[in-house]
Amino acid sequence: MKKVKMVPGEWGILKPSKPLSKRRIDEKARDLMSQMSLAEKIHQMSGDIPLVLGTIEMQLAYNRRPYPAGENTRLGIPGIRFSDGPRGVVMYNSTCFPVTMARGATWDTDLEERVGDAIGVEARSQGANFFGGVCINLLRHPAWGRAQETYGEDPFQLGEMGAALVRGVQRHIMACVKHFATNSMENARFKVDVRISERALREIYLPHFKRCIDEGAASVMSAYNKVNGEYCGHSRHLLRDILKNEWGFDGFVISDFLLGIRKTIDAVEGGMDIEMPFTWHFGKKLYKQVKCGRVNEALIDDAVLRILRQKIRFAQTGEPDRYGKHAVVCDAHKKLAREVAQKSIVLLKNEQAGKNRNPPLLPIDPLKISKIAVIGRLAIAKNIGDSGSSMVRPPYVVTPLEGIRGVLESNIKITYNNGKNIQSAAKQAGTADIAIIIAGYTHRHEGEYIPIPPKGGDREFLSLRAHDEKLIGQVASKNPKTVVVMIGGSAIITENWRRKVPSILMAWYPGMEGGHAIADILFGKVNPSGKLPCVFPKSEKHLPFFDKKAKSIEYGLYHGYRLLDRNDHKPAFPFGFGLSYTTFEYANIGLDKSEIGVDDEVRIRVDITNTGNYTGEEVTQLYVGYENPSVERPVKELKGFTKTWLNPADTKQIEFVLTSDQLAYYCKDRLSWVVEQGLYRLFVGPSSRPEDLLETQLRITD
Ligand code: BGC
Repeated sequence: MKKVKMVPGEWGILKPSKPLSKRRIDEKARDLMSQMSLAEKIHQMSGDIPLVLGTIEMQLAYNRRPYPAGENTRLGIPGIRFSDGPRGVVMYNSTCFPVTMARGATWDTDLEERVGDAIGVEARSQGANFFGGVCINLLRHPAWGRAQETYGEDPFQLGEMGAALVRGVQRHIMACVKHFATNSMENARFKVDVRISERALREIYLPHFKRCIDEGAASVMSAYNKVNGEYCGHSRHLLRDILKNEWGFDGFVISDFLLGIRKTIDAVEGGMDIEMPFTWHFGKKLYKQVKCGRVNEALIDDAVLRILRQKIRFAQTGEPDRYGKHAVVCDAHKKLAREVAQKSIVLLKNEQAGKNRNPPLLPIDPLKISKIAVIGRLAIAKNIGDSGSSMVRPPYVVTPLEGIRGVLESNIKITYNNGKNIQSAAKQAGTADIAIIIAGYTHRHEGEYIPIPPKGGDREFLSLRAHDEKLIGQVASKNPKTVVVMIGGSAIITENWRRKVPSILMAWYPGMEGGHAIADILFGKVNPSGKLPCVFPKSEKHLPFFDKKAKSIEYGLYHGYRLLDRNDHKPAFPFGFGLSYTTFEYANIGLDKSEIGVDDEVRIRVDITNTGNYTGEEVTQLYVGYENPSVERPVKELKGFTKTWLNPADTKQIEFVLTSDQLAYYCKDRLSWVVEQGLYRLFVGPSSRPEDLLETQLRITD
């Protein structure tokens, strides 16, 4: 049989001469499938990496090249060519953006779409046609080792940010949304059984997936864990009933790698379409089950059609002029990485240093200083986050110290002390005008859990290391002008030292350009605009139960700000909170109508004024609360956000559109969404903190 020569990463015979309608795509897929033998069809459904050699290759250089699945050389049908993320393209040497949690802190869907576009271009330029890095699992607890791979704790925000990444990536290649579902802990991920009510599943753990499916995501990756006793990769309820039937998803499901499915029949009947990255439970085993009548061939046809339809759809996507070596880590992408890092850094605290009537410590005016002490081992670390499957290998990483050196003139003396010897660091700080401490985590403290050899995993502690907390205390006692820049993948508890320093920044893992971005913020080249995508609590006791070794765990309606609100626990830094070098004032909240029907929408307007001296960008949030609901509901929930640029003294009116279906709860008796009539409270403001919010009310009638 003649084999068709295929160019890696390109679509060959699938590329149509003119764009195809959805109907034509389906017809073409059916036509191609009709030319396949059963073995060829089943071959579409699993990874092409050889089990033993592939495992060795993965240990040596994970995802250096795209991982193919379902290539058919007889018919000339290219395989899926998998590349991972999410902080960039894992293959070869690609641009390393800030981690997803940092990008969540930008609350900037346009920016995230541009990141997606850059990732799509770099992946396709290096031979991939599939991006496995749209991770939108909900941050239920900050100890989760892979917190950094997701956008935050709120389903609405996760959905909007994930959808933006899907839009950007899918201009070029297929995007895969993962890990479906409830994959919010790490060490126990292969075995833990998440016990969850249908209501919590639908309201808290799934809406963001639906949002990305509605955006047109081509693929979904199942999770390793179980939900209510069943592995996600086998779950008919998740994969068939909800995803494919109820939501009308017409793309395909891939398994998480290796242990994503355990049994041939359970997986194929549950709704799994591709086993990744090897052929283990599918392939010959699946062929046998079909031949002996235990698996209905219609299930195979359904999976193959799903895969072929997406291949044909994406064969007509792209901007060929943009692909090539020149596009990978190009200047535009490096610039974008710096912009994203700048916009992701959150200014948590900024007060005057000492008792005099100085302005807040930040931004630092280089004209007023002659000596800076930079302290902490992380100031010189190329610290871009986890070293598991999401690890990107950029050609360089700008450390915080390099970034600080880069913005200052040579007449300013910069001293560096790694902070191991607390006395010597404090002494050095005492002789400087300002001390900057860089402290936090690395991939040793949090990340993907790899059992053999053991690495990464859920965090052991939520505060900084005891040594760093002591260092901060001592340095601040010698120099009241001390700034702490924290590095990490999610919330950090700061109670032991928060009051001892005037200024704190949360810089997450800021990517290859992170050092530059940190310096841009510290020295006021850029006005901070990031806001927390997860609550920073005062105490671990305010968080939901977490056990990294759990065999079974209960997930409910409450975590993050929803849980703190319910129990009236004040956070150290609230969800949605972040300061700026300028100030914003909110006024005149109003609605276009005060009553709407159950299928209607309302416009909520508010004026924002920049009342400070710097141009700045403000993230405004819309929350909804429920007045006398018939079922238990959270105090408030995020339902909208928007970002506005304002020059000093400027006022702008911003508008949110809220549809009544956004007010629905999932009714466990009717097994459907219900919008209750009655009174709703609408809150608009700069964070989730009650004192920050303006309130108005809306009535829903029938
Ligand atoms: C991770 C996935 C990842 C896959 C392939 C798995 O271990 O859980 O998130 O996409 O590896 O790299």
